[in-house]
Amino acid sequence: MPLTLSGTAATAAEAHVDNPYAGAKQYVNPNWAATVESAATRAADATLAAQMRTVAQQPTAVWMDRTSAIAGNVDGPGLRFHLDEALKQKTGSTPLVFNLVIYNLPGRDCYALASNGELPPTAAGMTRYKTEYIDPIVDLLSEPKYADLRIAATIEPDSLPNLITNNSEAACQTAGPYYREGVKYALDELKTLDNVYTYIDAAHSGWLGWETNAGPAAKLFAEVARTTRKGFASVDGFVTNTANTTPLAEPFLTDPNRQVGGVPVRSAKFYEWNTDFGEHAWTAQLHRLLVAEGFPASTGMLIDTSRNGWGGPNRPTAVSTSTNVDTFVDESRIDRRTHRGAWCNPLGAGLGELPRATPASAPAASHLDAYVWIKPPGESDGSSREIPNDEGKSFDRMCDPTFNSPKLNNLPTGATPDAPVSGKWFEAQFVTLVKNAYPVVPTSGSTPTPTPSVTPTPTPSVTPTPTPTVTPTPTPTP
Ligand code: GLC
Repeated sequence: MPLTLSGTAATAAEAHVDNPYAGAKQYVNPNWAATVESAATRAADATLAAQMRTVAQQPTAVWMDRTSAIAGNVDGPGLRFHLDEALKQKTGSTPLVFNLVIYNLPGRDCYALASNGELPPTAAGMTRYKTEYIDPIVDLLSEPKYADLRIAATIEPDSLPNLITNNSEAACQTAGPYYREGVKYALDELKTLDNVYTYIDAAHSGWLGWETNAGPAAKLFAEVARTTRKGFASVDGFVTNTANTTPLAEPFLTDPNRQVGGVPVRSAKFYEWNTDFGEHAWTAQLHRLLVAEGFPASTGMLIDTSRNGWGGPNRPTAVSTSTNVDTFVDESRIDRRTHRGAWCNPLGAGLGELPRATPASAPAASHLDAYVWIKPPGESDGSSREIPNDEGKSFDRMCDPTFNSPKLNNLPTGATPDAPVSGKWFEAQFVTLVKNAYPVVPTSGSTPTPTPSVTPTPTPSVTPTPTPTVTPTPTPTP
């Protein structure tokens, strides 16, 4: 009798690959796409509307930001819906990557308030994390019909990075042991499935880039990986810039040690001696340190480019001629934030590079698997004033545009005004993100030609709007 390969779905599943994004498509969340499509119907002009329709075709991650997100809740349908949709989006033999965010640790967001979560940093909270959150997610993912999807899991944004820099905060001291245990548990359980790829969140260059943070971060990642059943094999890679707006690189500040007025550029107030001015530099540095700690050289990096574009009218077009280092940096940098620690709805940010696997223009030393959109553009980072909610989220003044924060050397937060609670649709911000996109979003087609690493001056697109062929389904906006 001839041997056949048409056995169960599980046996037909492909082997684990090094870079899941290579040669693959990524899942487009139809719920988010419908919200974007609905925004396009309200856009001020035809070009913007057409650009929004291009954005609606982009893949974004699905966030499991509380236990109710697994079954589905007011914010959208549940995980099974998305996995089934992903199966529908899979065409022929082209692999499909499903970007999933694991985000519900006990004592979540210990150094901020806007994304505090539902689980307390207690033993009981830890038990609920395991049994009511991770276990049901893994049960669903393990259904044989999903074995052919490549699940790329972003593991717990901000958690381990907070243990490097924010241990002076009592909430982070309390949460620390649960973060380590929770991340270990998530890795152990997710890695029982061969089609799951795990990417641990590694903050961004303006957070961990200093050698004094980067070294300890690599050590902590290695320590946690070693506690897992599969050790370093539990971790496929790291994802940086999650929900942040740090650029890939500064096109006019390419040498951190360039002398201006007799001092290096990196000594400017904006950089505070950090040599990593962007995510390409950070992923390169981190990769080098991780390998030194024992991680395999195959460890891959992802960068969330959803909101790190910094185009629009305020983008510098040439390097400054000032001989004052601070003026020089402020006039040259495309990152227009007041301070690199400003994380809440930064006003003026634009969409960044469209999601895609390892662009040839990216530096080889950065070891990138892909640019991804983990933060769905248009979803708020936090409310600009107190808004009651049942998700455990609090009001963080980093989201208040009228506030000068001590965490930012008393500079203004630069947050976009009138923001809703984190995760909720924030259309005013979405409009700015699309207008200030860099590269400029094409008005038709979904994939722009890969941009060279030294970014050219943006040319505003004037292509006429295509007529929409599908009637948009509006998603309720809070
Ligand atoms: C924030 C929110 C979370 C949301 C996510 C994506 O971190 O806390 O609820 O799902 O962003 O927008």
